[in-house]
Amino acid sequence: MAVSGTKPKPEFTEAESSAWVRDMFGRVAPRYDLLNRILSMQIDRVWRWRTARILKPWLGPRARVLDLCCGTGDLLVALEAVAPARYIGADFCFPMLVRTNEKSSAPLMEADGLHLPLQSNSLDLVTIGFGFRNFVNYRGGLEELLRVLKPGGHLAILEFTQPPNRLVRGFMGFWNRYVMDPIGRLVSGQGDAYQYLPESVSRFPDAPLLARMMGEQGFTQVSFRYFDAGIVALHLGQKPL
Ligand SMILES: C[S@@+](CC[C@H](N)C(=O)[O-])C[C@H]1O[C@@H](n2cnc3c(N)ncnc32)[C@H](O)[C@@H]1O
Repeated sequence: MAVSGTKPKPEFTEAESSAWVRDMFGRVAPRYDLLNRILSMQIDRVWRWRTARILKPWLGPRARVLDLCCGTGDLLVALEAVAPARYIGADFCFPMLVRTNEKSSAPLMEADGLHLPLQSNSLDLVTIGFGFRNFVNYRGGLEELLRVLKPGGHLAILEFTQPPNRLVRGFMGFWNRYVMDPIGRLVSGQGDAYQYLPESVSRFPDAPLLARMMGEQGFTQVSFRYFDAGIVALHLGQKPL
């Protein structure tokens, strides 16, 4: 596979990419929710609610659930509304966690998804909404998530993807270039961030490839479904029993 992880600049090492991504999310954190609502026309909310409803069978008062890359907490809040569980939120960007803390009473951790300060075999479910794409090492990330899941535990990755339909792909290219980039720059004041975000989607493995990588890293029962003509995909996988 050509893409091993996100790389905001071709010359960056993994450590430099990771620091850049963390800093960039820190800069956009104050306007992140507002921009999400404007740029997706509220559809991002529907994607998270749909995901939470799909995951409902794995939630419950005894389930230990990590929402990794929780950002401002929108996926965590959607999960909490669907069913009670022992939720934890984690993100490596402190300004994002501050926003989650305003919305959820779940315990929060400032942690890198590639090196989680959690015991092996300790979680029933890990969810990641629009965060996995920003990992500097996708295989390393999958390995770490497999480590912390209990045997039989599930991983759910909700992420932007390459729409399989050429026309939808073309429309998304237009949207990113002529709508997302200028509005993102204007509202956030962070031009490089709203250039990076669509670029990172175009470099991210497409849905079938991500599913294959999950299988190669040891997940079983791997499946994915597209939402809304394949703008985003929800991948599911299970740690073998
Ligand atoms: C686009 S936001 C998504 C937030 C939220 N899950 C949502 O659905 O809106 C991506 C988040 O992933 C976090 N992130 C990216 N790479 C990470 C890593 N390696 N470890 C922990 N958090 C990471 C960023 O700090 C950011 O808050």
